[in-house]
Amino acid sequence: MTLKLVVFYGSVRSARQGIKAARYIVEQCKQRGHQVTLLDADELQLPLLDKMYKEYGPGEAPPTLQRMADAIIPADAHIVVTGEYNHAPPPGLTNLLDHFLDEFFHRPSAIVCYSAGPFGGVRAAVSLRPMLAELGMSSIPSVLPISRVHKTFDAEGQLLDDAYARRAAKFLDELEWYANALRAAREADAAAAAADGRPRASCEAKDAIKAKA
Ligand SMILES: Cc1cc2nc3c(=O)[nH]c(=O)nc-3n(C[C@H](O)[C@H](O)[C@H](O)COP(=O)(O)O)c2cc1C
Repeated sequence: MTLKLVVFYGSVRSARQGIKAARYIVEQCKQRGHQVTLLDADELQLPLLDKMYKEYGPGEAPPTLQRMADAIIPADAHIVVTGEYNHAPPPGLTNLLDHFLDEFFHRPSAIVCYSAGPFGGVRAAVSLRPMLAELGMSSIPSVLPISRVHKTFDAEGQLLDDAYARRAAKFLDELEWYANALRAAREADAAAAAADGRPRASCEAKDAIKAKA
């Protein structure tokens, strides 16, 4: 089943390497027939958090934030590609995520982590997990760590180590399972709520927020 996926990537360094990992995972998702949006902090140039998306009135969010919301709200799952800066995710990544909350609810997430060293950014992945849980998009059990990211892809972003293709396939199989399961749960909830005339528990978040306002 075609899924709507968002890939977050947060490095804004001029010499950034992780963009190759982000583009690689986007391409793998597309090859599986999914609709994918890459939200790249460097391209978006989102300022540090002032107001969250939900704090703006209808039609009043800045265009960049609205563009992000238009990808996030209908998504079935999110893939978060994190580097490791001092054992933590890059601030550009957490800034992207901090602008949203309810819009993430009831979707799974999956972590791709990478670093220049041998540990593949797993320490950043570990510290990212509680954040994703708090955001309402708990992460799937597997992570996809990429060691020595600057040597794993060539300058054009082509994968140089086939082992990652197998790992990425298994990782995406797992994400698809959770994304399909939660999509079915959201649809069942929406149908039951419509039949009972009550609000959905797994709301299409933005609608519910605006309805409350
Ligand atoms: C501020 C900073 C902190 C870093 N801290 C770590 C670290 O804790 N562990 C690690 O393995 N690599 C660390 N690195 C090296 C990064 O893994 C490597 O530079 C990687 O390419 C960064 O991702 P990016 O190129 O997408 O920005 C750090 C790099 C920077 C710029």
